[in-house]
Amino acid sequence: MEALLSESVAHLCARGKGILAADESPGTLGKRLKNTPQLRHLENAEETRRQWREILLTSDTGSCFGGVILHEETLLQSTKEGKAFVECLRERGILPGVKVDQGLEPVGEETVTKGLDTLSERCAAYREQGARFAKWRAALKVSDVLPSRECVEQNAEQLARYAKVCQEQGLVPIVEPEILITSDYGMARSRDVSTLVLREVFKRLAAHGVDLKTCLLKPQMVMPGSESAEKASAQEVARATLDVFDECLTDDLAGVFFLSGGLTEEQATVNLNELNLAAKERYAARGGQPWKLSFSFGRALQASVLKMWRGRPENAEACRAQSLRLAKANSSACEGEYNP
Ligand code: 13P
Repeated sequence: MEALLSESVAHLCARGKGILAADESPGTLGKRLKNTPQLRHLENAEETRRQWREILLTSDTGSCFGGVILHEETLLQSTKEGKAFVECLRERGILPGVKVDQGLEPVGEETVTKGLDTLSERCAAYREQGARFAKWRAALKVSDVLPSRECVEQNAEQLARYAKVCQEQGLVPIVEPEILITSDYGMARSRDVSTLVLREVFKRLAAHGVDLKTCLLKPQMVMPGSESAEKASAQEVARATLDVFDECLTDDLAGVFFLSGGLTEEQATVNLNELNLAAKERYAARGGQPWKLSFSFGRALQASVLKMWRGRPENAEACRAQSLRLAKANSSACEGEYNP
């Protein structure tokens, strides 16, 4: 298993590569369709989702994506002509990944994540079906009093247990403790909560014996909430994010792949570029950057493509071209080489 994990992680962390998160649950994708005026007429059926995913998974993005995270439904789907999606990805040199959590479960005002009880068997099956890595998302709400200590601890514990099971089953775990951006907290609170959460996550990963060399982190960037009056420049976001990482992350972690969390496509790319520029400068004196800083964006790699699609097969080519444009922009940004 170790050789397989090392090979997969090296592929995902190769120069200029990031991850496309196309693993929205049917419910989430349904909401995206409803909230996009151009797509409101589409029925959120399995075939609609298959058609949409066919566009993303047959775009020529192999030089930009080391992996694509799929929903388990997509892992078993095929193109209209009958070619398995996992094969389409393999042909392009892209590793198939899978979302292995089963969504959120409320605990008071907060949430934990479902799916640990059946995780081991499911991971073994997903690996048979072609998956090489996995994702588990915890979601943390922020207010003056949230997240609660218990919620931070419970979610960190779940993330660590998930990561251990994945490694035992030969899947590289992506650990995603998402601090939700939809709130009015400022930069200082974002820093504090990110530090609290990441410290706890790394403590639990160590306690469960998770091998960080074959583990990836998927955090949000440190910045004010989307409803805050405070705004931060890309430089400020980069500085604050690296400050938090310096406090919480250990150097043996394989890589950091950011979520886009509701940022616009352009803002997500500009921030990622700035993070890499700031990291080059900051770590030059310390013998180089400890972790790859890349992307695992969902919305920031799909929003404009989805609008363009309109559910019409004749738009597929234009959609593939747009998907490639976004992929290339982010591929450059993960080397600090993006020119808008
Ligand atoms: P966003 O980039 O749209 O936040 O999605 C990433 C993701 O995978 C959330 O779980």
